[in-house]
Amino acid sequence: MCGIVGYIGNKQAYPIIINGLKRLEYRGYDSAGIALFDGKKIQLSKTKGKVVDLEARVAEEIETKGSVGIGHTRWATHGIPNDVNSHPHCSNSGDLVLIHNGIIENYASLKTELINRGYTFKSDTDTEVLVNLIEEIKKQEDVKLGKAVQIALNQVVGAYAIALFDIKKPNELVVAKLGSPLAIGIGEDEFFVASDASPFIEFTKDAIYLEDEEMAIIRLGREVRVRKIKNDKLVNANIQKLKLNLEQIEKGGYDHFMLKEIYEQPTVIKDTYRGRLLANKGIIKLGGLDDNISRFTNADRIIIIACGTSWHAGLVAEYIFEEWTRIPVEVEYASEFRYRNPIITEKDIVIAISQSGETADTLAAIKLAKQRGAFVYGICNVVGSTISRETHSGSYTHAGPEIGVASTKAFTTQITVLTMMALEIGRVKGAIAQSDYMLHLRELELIPGHVEAALKSNEKIEEIAAVFKNAKNFLYLGRGVNFPVALEGALKLKEISYIHAEGYPAAEMKHGPIALIDDQMPVVVVAINCNHYGKVVSNIEEIKARSGKIIAVVTEGDTEVAALADYVMEVPDTPETLTPLLTTIPLQLLSYHIAVMLDKNVDQPRNLAKSVTVE
Ligand code: AGP
Ligand code: GLU
Repeated sequence: MCGIVGYIGNKQAYPIIINGLKRLEYRGYDSAGIALFDGKKIQLSKTKGKVVDLEARVAEEIETKGSVGIGHTRWATHGIPNDVNSHPHCSNSGDLVLIHNGIIENYASLKTELINRGYTFKSDTDTEVLVNLIEEIKKQEDVKLGKAVQIALNQVVGAYAIALFDIKKPNELVVAKLGSPLAIGIGEDEFFVASDASPFIEFTKDAIYLEDEEMAIIRLGREVRVRKIKNDKLVNANIQKLKLNLEQIEKGGYDHFMLKEIYEQPTVIKDTYRGRLLANKGIIKLGGLDDNISRFTNADRIIIIACGTSWHAGLVAEYIFEEWTRIPVEVEYASEFRYRNPIITEKDIVIAISQSGETADTLAAIKLAKQRGAFVYGICNVVGSTISRETHSGSYTHAGPEIGVASTKAFTTQITVLTMMALEIGRVKGAIAQSDYMLHLRELELIPGHVEAALKSNEKIEEIAAVFKNAKNFLYLGRGVNFPVALEGALKLKEISYIHAEGYPAAEMKHGPIALIDDQMPVVVVAINCNHYGKVVSNIEEIKARSGKIIAVVTEGDTEVAALADYVMEVPDTPETLTPLLTTIPLQLLSYHIAVMLDKNVDQPRNLAKSVTVE
């Protein structure tokens, strides 16, 4: 995910583009770049880092003249964040300049073909392949830029929002979209292009939002023409009147990044398994895993190291891995592991989980594991992060930038990757029945829809939050794979509302915490329809007998727990191993609403940092 901005008109393009990039920085922030046409040549500047770093670089190296230009703030998917991989990318002739948000999945085969035709590449990006493919088609077919883009995009598999221009014809910008967003702002004798409308909101309220598989040629002095990429058919594009203010737009209309990120989960879970989970072929393809599969199938033990929410994802994985791979799993706090004298052998595999890929404790634990000979596999969200580079192999979660300090979509996408890994290792090892494997593949594909259904309880959850917002303590209970969900629910509440909360395995309650229960104690119980259902129902009875208030997460249509609990939050039915992907959702919403009602800083809670790079 990244932010793109373009301008063509009668004003100086630079300030518009640079301010636009700042507004889009929430979408990606590992590198940035800009290309301006000054009337004679291209002025190109790009750098690893934030938009402020780009501004500094621009001041040193280019003239900021020109009324045509494009800019990009990157969230790397292909190639580490560095100056060369930053966008814009130019074609080999230097004529075409392009920015891209998304992933060109078949870039490798296209790249080989272009290399055979004499093309050379400076970067590791999929994007540089696309700009050269367009150039090659333009030359070979002797067509105009728009046509060449159209032919090229029909050869591309993946997702994109692109904007490009030809320095030989600088009165025209070409844009296209599939999967990633793209808005065109229509001013008087000027046009804007951006990932969302925030970069141009003060210049015009008229905008066209391209639909998937549409492209547009934006020419000065002409109407914007929108066409279907597939068949070139002209589309009657709808010009919308923008109502949103800036603040809302940056958060996509949500009040907080956390809420936006909670709501992104159906999409990002799909992004996590897209191109990897091939249910109709009956396989899961995870590059880093495939290359090392025999290490996993022959492993004596898997040790998972992580901190905070990522550690909770590791705990969920312990249940799933042991169930499907029959490999013993241990889950460790990275901060403890690094200072123990852990017994590790070359037949151990260490899996390190980290959203940011920068957590100091996790990084130190990885170094220790490597020194002792273990093979270390990383699961990170941020591409090119230190942990993704320090590990021997790994998989990205593809959740997109997570800005809210309280982790939400990072957790569910980590579980999605771990689930795919466990299924695939189990299949290759022969430890999971083929029918079970296929069932879970298909059920995993239904999860985004189920998450959407779970999100529909938002209003009800807000009402529950209003009832309990002044409680001083909360208890969270769950069993099996939902015990870590209870821990995660409690952590979310602590982090953003500063209410004390504890997570426990439901059956442990009688060994101590039950002493805390009275009519002032809300107890959140994950009581979905699964193996331990009967036992959890008994726990609920025990809480009720002591006047505790019960908020239960139940399977849609449940009547038994519903009759006992004070409040229920429903999630759709799914196999037990996949339930954490759903039961987490109402707990995220509950903590969110309580924090909002208590007027806390939801996105930047006190004392916390998004990435903990110190011990
Ligand atoms: C989660 O809501 C937290 N803010 C925190 O526990 C976080 O999960 C932890 O610091 C680990 O971060 P990482 O995943 O980036 O390594
Ligand atoms: N795939 C492109 C890259 O890695 C674009 C990523 C983005 O959307 O920022 O450069």
